[in-house]
Amino acid sequence: MKIGRTLVSAEEIDAKLKEMGAAITRDYEGKDLLLVGILKGAVVVMADLARHIALPLEFDFMAVSSYGASTKSSGVVRILKDLDEEIDGRHVIIVEDIVDTGLTLQYLIKNLQVRNPASLKLAALLIKDGVERLPLEVAYEGFHIGPEFVIGYGLDFDGKYRNLPHVAVVDEV
Ligand code: IMP
Ligand code: MG
Repeated sequence: MKIGRTLVSAEEIDAKLKEMGAAITRDYEGKDLLLVGILKGAVVVMADLARHIALPLEFDFMAVSSYGASTKSSGVVRILKDLDEEIDGRHVIIVEDIVDTGLTLQYLIKNLQVRNPASLKLAALLIKDGVERLPLEVAYEGFHIGPEFVIGYGLDFDGKYRNLPHVAVVDEV
């Protein structure tokens, strides 16, 4: 494969995260905020987004994997790493790199909701349009993109390219 055309530049990402961070700063002023990043893709988004949030927040992480070898999400999710902290009574924002079918997030929301957080919201840098998606409310969203496979800024192709500073399409060669 080859790195294809740039869909979202590093500058555009930074400007958007700044806006998202400002909105989160406004909304969570005076609240006990916990950012929950979904490994591994959300690491890059979370690191940059968090630095645009002017509040004394905390970090936690979860790692999940879909069952089976299919490239399509099945909705059956296995927890590889659970949260370190309890979230009872806390204000939680799940941070994701991309929302595709929404199956992973639907599972995570259900899983975290029963732990009684004070609130539970979603932040995602990318939303893939033109795919069949479960109804999900993403409170803090970055960019809507088409139904293409993308890499960079946390998103991988076979484990690689997460470190690209921008989001690019994949050219199959
Ligand atoms: P969902 O359960 O279908 O919403 O899948 C979401 C997960 O699939 C994301 O967290 C990514 O890890 C992965 N994913 C979805 N689309 C892409 C893509 O275009 N490039 C890389 N990973 C993707
Ligand atoms: Mg992911």
